[in-house]
Amino acid sequence: MTNQESIFQEAADFIQTCFSELGKSAGQADIRLQEIHSEIKKRGTYTHTYEELEHGAKMAWRNSNKCIGRLFWSSITVFDERKENEAEKVKEALFRHISYATNGGKIRPAITIFRPENSFRIWNHQLIRYAGYETPHGTIGDPASIAFTKACQELGWKGNEGNFDILPLVIQHKEETPKWYKIPEDLILEVPIQHPAHPELEELNAKWYAVPIISDMKLEIGGIRYNAAPFNGWYMETEIGARNFADSSRYNLLPKTAELLGYDTSRSASLWKDKALIDLNEAVLHSYKKAGVSIVDHHTAASQFQLFEEKEAESGRSITGDWTWLIPPISPASTHIFHSKYDNRIVKPNFFYQEKAYGAELKKCPFH
Ligand code: ARG
Repeated sequence: MTNQESIFQEAADFIQTCFSELGKSAGQADIRLQEIHSEIKKRGTYTHTYEELEHGAKMAWRNSNKCIGRLFWSSITVFDERKENEAEKVKEALFRHISYATNGGKIRPAITIFRPENSFRIWNHQLIRYAGYETPHGTIGDPASIAFTKACQELGWKGNEGNFDILPLVIQHKEETPKWYKIPEDLILEVPIQHPAHPELEELNAKWYAVPIISDMKLEIGGIRYNAAPFNGWYMETEIGARNFADSSRYNLLPKTAELLGYDTSRSASLWKDKALIDLNEAVLHSYKKAGVSIVDHHTAASQFQLFEEKEAESGRSITGDWTWLIPPISPASTHIFHSKYDNRIVKPNFFYQEKAYGAELKKCPFH
């Protein structure tokens, strides 16, 4: 199959499903596909209408096997920024996304879609994330950000070597040198972490940002690849309390938490890690609630996922899922997900990992 044939094949699959879900006739789909066919013949590609883009993005969320939050797939707001043609304008659109999604704490799921086929790459993993530094005295900040932080420094950004320095946005247009932009502080909502019953935990000096906006995945709809299409939902508390704060390869706060609360860390059978995990998760839920920032606990999220499963069955669709990701990292067996089986087949439209935009340069051997 030639490249053009395969784009058309993907387009046909997408348009048929999309149009039927939107209540359009098979005849309408045929007409649209003829149009797409001639556009591909002329230009080698085709352009989605806003309606196709919007519904395609929704389908991509619905098909995201790893996501427990999919009940809300059809409520995402889709911003079409395909007209933008320079990094400066992309940056403005990203600021608008952050502000719309944050909404003073009442978080709104959103996706901003830019020109496809490697017109732009956003180097950030998430639009808002903390820097990580390797220093002679050990790691500062988020170890997951070390490589990207180095890339930012090479571009001329300077961090404060703090534990929670917000990284700049790095936007690359085609093969041009990427540009970096500081995010205005008033756009970023953060939540200081405190426990409802243990004020000692304020000594962790922990905080987290309100909105996770994944910005390094590729959105694929009907054969078109949108490399820059950052999207967000709201947090489930375990993402922060049981992973970002707890993983020994991340902020590694379990030992400090146990120490502050006087748990016996000399033997694992005291279950100090498990207790500290619950404490951190309680603190995250309490703090977000108190700050008026949307968050969901893993039991509620699992029930919502069950409702999603039921609704999809009613709509005559089969669901796909990745069990290893869907189970929450805390008390997984207390959710129905643990006791269920999921088909991990990949259905498109969907979101895909793509090669890191800044990888090549960093991997280069200094002697060659
Ligand atoms: N797990 C990632 C983090 O802790 C965020 C992934 C997306 N999460 C979400 N609730 N939409 O930052």
